[in-house]
Amino acid sequence: MTKTVVVTGANRGLGLEYCRQFLEKGYKVYACCRAPESAEDLLKLKQQHCEKLETVPLDVTHPAQRTNLKNTLQGEQIDILINNAGIYGQRVKFGEVESEEWLKVMKVNTIAPVLLVQELVKLMPQGSKIVLMTSKMGSIADNTSGGSYIYRSSKAALNAVGKSMAHDLSDKGISVAICHPGWVVTDMGGPNALIDSRTSIKGLMAVIERLGPENSGQFINYDGALIPW
Ligand SMILES: NC(=O)c1ccc[n+]([C@@H]2O[C@H](COP(=O)([O-])OP(=O)(O)OC[C@H]3O[C@@H](n4cnc5c(N)ncnc54)[C@H](OP(=O)(O)O)[C@@H]3O)[C@@H](O)[C@H]2O)c1
Repeated sequence: MTKTVVVTGANRGLGLEYCRQFLEKGYKVYACCRAPESAEDLLKLKQQHCEKLETVPLDVTHPAQRTNLKNTLQGEQIDILINNAGIYGQRVKFGEVESEEWLKVMKVNTIAPVLLVQELVKLMPQGSKIVLMTSKMGSIADNTSGGSYIYRSSKAALNAVGKSMAHDLSDKGISVAICHPGWVVTDMGGPNALIDSRTSIKGLMAVIERLGPENSGQFINYDGALIPW
């Protein structure tokens, strides 16, 4: 039977590359993004894979749009849910941090993934998988340079969310991976990043393939190595 994956932030960067690689593997892909009508790269992919790729409008912070996604998926099951949408927020130094920007980033990076999983979990069967796209910047053990209060804390909190979700969903047979993609050339990663999105997502596809109850709740690099919290 054809497997189904839902990807958020699917119009560019790592989300778009997830869509490409899941389509190559024969999945039905629900590609969610804020403005599907102007998502040029996604629309090109749709021309090649018309019946296997559905685009769905989704701002992950928007309650009615999360519900609309659930309604769109009624009658389907979700085998894999990739919570990929994320923002860095303003790059402010100590002394410049302010709460409005911080809350905005937390809403996208930390809170929206929980609310989306809560909305969709009834469509996820035993054996299904949830991926949270976090960052090594959220590792407290790895923080040797300080700064980045907003982004670091949003991803550290997402890591805590992932661990709780792994416990809470284990009796449903749903597994959770808390994944760092590497430092990747995208709009967020910038041009000096170390790897391209194809390499990153190829590695993460293997991580997702191996994901199951025995390794649910791990903080894991794109190459499969565990990352200290
Ligand atoms: N690139 C890296 O080196 C790196 C490293 C560690 C972790 N990550 C994580 O990996 C994920 C993907 O990163 P990326 O490098 O692909 O970033 P990116 O190129 O900046 O793309 C971010 C994606 O998130 C979407 N997005 C932002 N806010 C949204 C919202 N409210 N609702 C729905 N979609 C929203 C964007 O959509 P719009 O086009 O509409 O803005 C875009 O599709 C993020 O969670 C990021 O934190 C990336």
